[in-house]
Amino acid sequence: MSKGRLISFEGLDGAGKTTQMQLLEQWLAARNIPYVRTREPGGTPLGVEIRHLLLNRPDLAITPLAEAFLFQADRAQHFTNVIIPALEAGKLVITDRCFDASIAYQGHARGVGIELVARLSVIATQGHIPNLTILLDLDSDQVRARTDTANDASGLREQQTRFDAEEEQFHRRVREAFLALARIYPDRIKVLDASRPPQQIHEQIVALVEPLLEDR
Ligand code: TYD
Repeated sequence: MSKGRLISFEGLDGAGKTTQMQLLEQWLAARNIPYVRTREPGGTPLGVEIRHLLLNRPDLAITPLAEAFLFQADRAQHFTNVIIPALEAGKLVITDRCFDASIAYQGHARGVGIELVARLSVIATQGHIPNLTILLDLDSDQVRARTDTANDASGLREQQTRFDAEEEQFHRRVREAFLALARIYPDRIKVLDASRPPQQIHEQIVALVEPLLEDR
């Protein structure tokens, strides 16, 4: 059995994952707790190429099923080369997204099917599941305001992606699926209200992460 711990961050784009991951990194660094930070898609050199195809090539037509497989190809490479070795070395891994995103975006919002995407996820992850998933929840109206790059004061966001360009209905479906997953897996997926002040959210995250570190 792996000794490491895997924590994933999920939510609609613009919910504040980047800010919260940075705050958690600072918290870990201040306590000399070693960790590996990574992301999906794009946590490996192959993944960086796949990420570019998936997000920043609006000229390229990608079918929903092909999209689902591309995310899983990224994930297969990521788990084999980055996440599983880190967990086996007893490390703490924090990842910006994991397979719940595939279930919500491809399985539900794109209509590929939740069961199929869940099956592909088990194969790609070799059965590994995050110990904790932080779901930063925000309604799609607020998300719209935040993902508009023109409104982004932080300068942290990349250019608009293929997903940012989707209709509001699409983002509503993604949120619906994330919340449904959180109801099915309440022990693993913790829903935090992303409209609250960042510092308060950070404190909630620390309260969820600390117990995981204690029993390592
Ligand atoms: P992310 O890096 O979180 O984007 P951002 O930092 O811009 O919020 O994720 C990129 C996009 O890919 C995001 O819109 C969600 C989507 N995505 C899926 O559709 N399926 C997946 O399996 C993953 C991991 C991400």
